[in-house]
Amino acid sequence: MKVIIGGIPGVGKTTVLEELLKDGFRVENYGDAMLKEAIVRDYAKSRDELRKLPVVKQKEIQALAAEKLAQFKDVIIDTHFSVNTEGGYLPGLPVNVLDTLHPDLFISIEADPLEIFERRKNDPRRKRDKDSLEKIRSHMEANREYGITYSAMTGSPLLVVMNENGKVKEASFKIISVIRSNDGGGQ
Ligand code: AP5
Repeated sequence: MKVIIGGIPGVGKTTVLEELLKDGFRVENYGDAMLKEAIVRDYAKSRDELRKLPVVKQKEIQALAAEKLAQFKDVIIDTHFSVNTEGGYLPGLPVNVLDTLHPDLFISIEADPLEIFERRKNDPRRKRDKDSLEKIRSHMEANREYGITYSAMTGSPLLVVMNENGKVKEASFKIISVIRSNDGGGQ
């Protein structure tokens, strides 16, 4: 089955998905797929530059990445339900991407906005936006609304999973149990 996981930057999607990788699930990162397309076209050199590109270029590489990711039948795609660009929220999964990917399940990873704020501050590997607590809260609410919309558009369910501080394993267990129960033990 095709599972799409979304969450705002710093919520800990990638950390939770590392647990699923250890369990033998195939996980593909949408940002990686977009970055490959961006590098070939000389649009960007790092993932943190992608959301600053002109929207038309983001949409171009978003569509190209979807085509690459569509080849995987059983996969978990690590992505964003909405991307906070300088010109507003850009849908991570517009109609053309949903039509290309045909997702079976959407999972929104969420956390307390204060915990996300602290995680971003303490993560030296990345060039994260310095959003206020209120901006983080608004983006997370918008993200959930985008997730609900994608679910309504496709008829595939939306599951909300909390990634609380120090509880990465609990979040990954929840995801694994739902995927296995939907998949008849699959992947
Ligand atoms: P992406 O690769 O998804 O990068 P990101 O947005 O920065 O998200 P991360 O994966 O880095 O953050 P995370 O939430 O997974 O947090 P992490 O696990 O690192 O996307 C890159 C770019 O690609 C995007 O910015 C966008 O431009 C583009 N893109 C992607 N999909 C797109 C789409 N569909 N359309 C258009 N553009 C798209 O954790 C953060 C920190 O928290 C770490 O230090 C970690 O140790 C800590 N932490 C995590 N969980 C816990 C916990 N439970 N307790 C304590 N600490 C924790």
